[in-house]
Amino acid sequence: MREVDRSPGVNLERIKEIVAECKVERWALIPVVQRIQNEFGYVPPEAIPIVAKSMKLFPSQVQGVISFYAQFYTKPRGRQVIRVCRGTACHVRGAETLLKMLEERLGIQEGETTPDMEYTLETVACIGVCTLAPNVVVNDAVHGYMDPEKLAKLLTKGEG
Ligand code: FES
Repeated sequence: MREVDRSPGVNLERIKEIVAECKVERWALIPVVQRIQNEFGYVPPEAIPIVAKSMKLFPSQVQGVISFYAQFYTKPRGRQVIRVCRGTACHVRGAETLLKMLEERLGIQEGETTPDMEYTLETVACIGVCTLAPNVVVNDAVHGYMDPEKLAKLLTKGEG
């Protein structure tokens, strides 16, 4: 997988290159934004006017599309994205406790990223493996039958 650029300064030249490499027809808006996100890990606000100009759209139109799709992120995300399932099965089996534990342990709230850019904490709708509830997803790996003890170990492993 390509290493994501999480440096604080946004490389505007690279954004321009990505836009130039893609077709400029309006239907290509989502693939262009996707490519930018793949490269930077999120869609930097600075990218919006560049994309809009090349596609002859208003920045507000580009912003509207980005806001509409949950797959797009407008803020940098951590190297490890931890998502707690908030579906019913996971909820009744203690997901809320796991979320609170993560918030305390990481010192951030749901939707936030630690200042060192190591962790982003999110919740997710049912991921379809309710039999393993409660579930926590770290990047793309599902960790089922989660409990506070297992979760503490998971975090310690990540720190190692
Ligand atoms: S409710 Fe969590 S996986 Fe379905």
